[in-house]
Amino acid sequence: MFQNQTFVISIDGRIVGDPLFNNLLLDIAVLRNLHIKVVLVFGIGQPLKDLATENQIIISDVHGTGKVDEATLKLATKAAGNTSHSIMQGLTKMGIKCATTNAVQGTKVGVIKGEDQLNLGKVNRVDKEALGQLLQNHMVPVISPVVFDRDGDSLRLDSDHLATEVAVSIAASKILFISSHNGLTVHGTFYRALETEQLRVLYDENLGNLEPAIHRKCKYALRALDGGIARVHILDGLEADSLLNEIFSSVGVGTLFYNHDYQKIRWARASDAQNLFDLTRESTERDELAQRSLKQIEDRIDSYFVYEIDGYILGSGCLISYPDSTTLELASLIVKQTQAGKGLGQKLVSFAEEQAVKKGGTKLVALSTQTFPFFTKKCGFKEGTLDDLPTSRADLLKASQRNSKVLIKDI
Ligand SMILES: CC(C)(COP(=O)(O)OP(=O)(O)OC[C@H]1O[C@@H](n2cnc3c(N)ncnc32)[C@H](O)[C@@H]1OP(=O)(O)O)[C@@H](O)C(=O)NCCC(=O)NCCS
Repeated sequence: MFQNQTFVISIDGRIVGDPLFNNLLLDIAVLRNLHIKVVLVFGIGQPLKDLATENQIIISDVHGTGKVDEATLKLATKAAGNTSHSIMQGLTKMGIKCATTNAVQGTKVGVIKGEDQLNLGKVNRVDKEALGQLLQNHMVPVISPVVFDRDGDSLRLDSDHLATEVAVSIAASKILFISSHNGLTVHGTFYRALETEQLRVLYDENLGNLEPAIHRKCKYALRALDGGIARVHILDGLEADSLLNEIFSSVGVGTLFYNHDYQKIRWARASDAQNLFDLTRESTERDELAQRSLKQIEDRIDSYFVYEIDGYILGSGCLISYPDSTTLELASLIVKQTQAGKGLGQKLVSFAEEQAVKKGGTKLVALSTQTFPFFTKKCGFKEGTLDDLPTSRADLLKASQRNSKVLIKDI
């Protein structure tokens, strides 16, 4: 599914120095083997702090977010060199081709609130072609948070800002912020997934309550989502297999911020038939849904609609029109068991209602053996009779002897 897509992975400096970093490199090796292109951006906060303590030097900034004086820049350059070496060595041991690159040009941030930020920089330009060539040649570009400006002078950047601007420039499909935080928690509530606008509201309301590191990640996540990146993840790099679990399990382990179209209801395509058959099989075995063969689904594929997240089909329904009737039927409504109770079922019903109205319908019916309360309590349906069904449907139901209840809603 992700083949040939580009992921930008932003790793905090703390993670690179940890013995568990090798596990993360293994996960990156798996991504490369699956033909996913990876750009690595690294941070140096922790190594810079360690170097400062070791050398008893007072630094003016740790994270690339404040004024960077000469002594700090000098140590940051050293920390970046060491960290880059560790990453390149780890990737080499995994058999992954990689290269450091000067594809990002920086510029000075300048004066903020009357104070010159000295050697603190921001991204000025990203050389897309240079990065593209490295990726084309199956290399992992490794990008340091100490970059050069137009004149070749060094500047210290915030690695999350750097990763975001790189991702937006090369139109990556996702950014993964890997730190020692497992995601976004606000007032004790952990957020597994938030749509862009939900994140914006939460961010604006809780500016003062977020930990600085998470605050920055949320800020850059919004910038990335507004810049066209579909998904931004925050995950804990020290948790075993977190990278692969976050990407490949349908729920994930960290926090996901996503643009709306990542999660959508759409009409089914011919290629969805097998997935729809597999999705409904369990329910037909429990007699919740009437049996449908693969051939029956294929023949009626144009009437099916699916709820898709990140390319996975997690729910579906079928909207059937009858000749000479303004009553349409919602059939085969199903949500994958692992996703039950998250509102997907109600969204699918709303979609069916909207589409039925577009098709000139005035009533929507559903036939249910075991889901009566879902339709009446959650979706506003009422119990109907056989007379509420289009005649041909009523005849079919009598013949089937399923004794389903008729549910009806004015739309
Ligand atoms: C019915 C179904 C589509 C609901 O999907 P869902 O995504 O879990 O539903 P939502 O999250 O939108 O709504 C959840 C609410 O509906 C209720 N609900 C879901 N299925 C129910 C059922 N079979 N009986 C009673 N209530 C049910 C839940 O208890 C929950 O109520 P709450 O909000 O008060 O806790 C899903 O359970 C399913 O696929 N069932 C098997 C197939 C089926 O029976 N299809 C209907 C025949 S067409």
